[in-house]
Amino acid sequence: MKTKPYKQDTSPLGYAVGVTLDRFIKSNQADFPFATGELSQLLRDIALASKIVSREISRAGLGQVTGAFGQTNVQGEEQQKLDVVANIRFTRALTKGGEVCAVVSEEDDEVIDLQNKTGKYVVAIDPLDGSSNIDVNVSIGTIFSIYRRVTPMGSPIQPEDVLQKGCQQVAAGYVLYGSSTMLVFTTGNGVNGFTYEQSLGEFFLSHHDIQAPLTGQIFTINDGLTPGADPGIAGFLNACKQNGRTARYIGSLVADFHRNLLKGGIYLYPATVANPNGKIRLAYEANALAFIAEQAGGKATDGMQRILDIPPLSLHQRTPIFIGSVELVDELETYVNG
Ligand code: AHG
Ligand code: MN
Ligand code: MN
Repeated sequence: MKTKPYKQDTSPLGYAVGVTLDRFIKSNQADFPFATGELSQLLRDIALASKIVSREISRAGLGQVTGAFGQTNVQGEEQQKLDVVANIRFTRALTKGGEVCAVVSEEDDEVIDLQNKTGKYVVAIDPLDGSSNIDVNVSIGTIFSIYRRVTPMGSPIQPEDVLQKGCQQVAAGYVLYGSSTMLVFTTGNGVNGFTYEQSLGEFFLSHHDIQAPLTGQIFTINDGLTPGADPGIAGFLNACKQNGRTARYIGSLVADFHRNLLKGGIYLYPATVANPNGKIRLAYEANALAFIAEQAGGKATDGMQRILDIPPLSLHQRTPIFIGSVELVDELETYVNG
């Protein structure tokens, strides 16, 4: 039979839409630790749940979607309806997927044991980050960390399965529900970002091999909470102002982190009077972002040690965090007690 080689159509109508998340995962299978396919499937499960959550979020303001749920979580914070909805969506996707044996969620006081005898992975998740921004139509996110369980599969979940140091993560990521919805993740081999194309229902690779700028002009902190913080913080902030740097604070960690990751900057949440151990939770906020920051060439510390080296003692443990461009985090460290 007469054949001809495929030649990509380069006419304006034939432009490539790009690499889908699925194709990216398949063609980078070797980058996935213990590449047996389960981790890839787990990322797909998370991506699917994030599409559903993205849809629910886009309806915020209509119907009964916004507002308080009427209960507080284990940390005494008022749950928003979308906190609860997102928690259900992600937990359900992780349960049905079959790769996960346990989930640690901001919205659940205890570990959820999925009773899945073949699940190799433990997931820590902040289903909706920045909930105070839901009702005012400002960017929010989801943050997740993935660990391999350390005790034998099929046996009951043990504390050492869920209380692993951040450096044990096999993958981590976040979803940003912003002007578009983005999924950014690492499997320990660089950081890639995917933008959701709503009409096609697909994530497409849009930010290949993200590199955190070495330095930057942005400093991000809730300055209203700094009185009573380590005096080094005030010293650093003063230096930022003297150097003409610019302050940006959204109040959704994912959105603040993402902006600084792309543009160069530092995010600070120190120990404060209200939160003597800091506010950001180690298991499902700090560790994932620290892993991503380091994989992109950035840095994350609590002022004394690398976030990824902090030994977790409890599920909802908090930590001070200073994260972003290496040179800015180094400079901050010269001011605080570390
Ligand atoms: P969450 O909505 O998951 O509880 O997280 C809120 C966190 C984080 O997203 C944000 O950076 C920080 O709280 C804001 O805290 P302040 O309101 O104290 O600035
Ligand atoms: Mn959060
Ligand atoms: Mn949350």
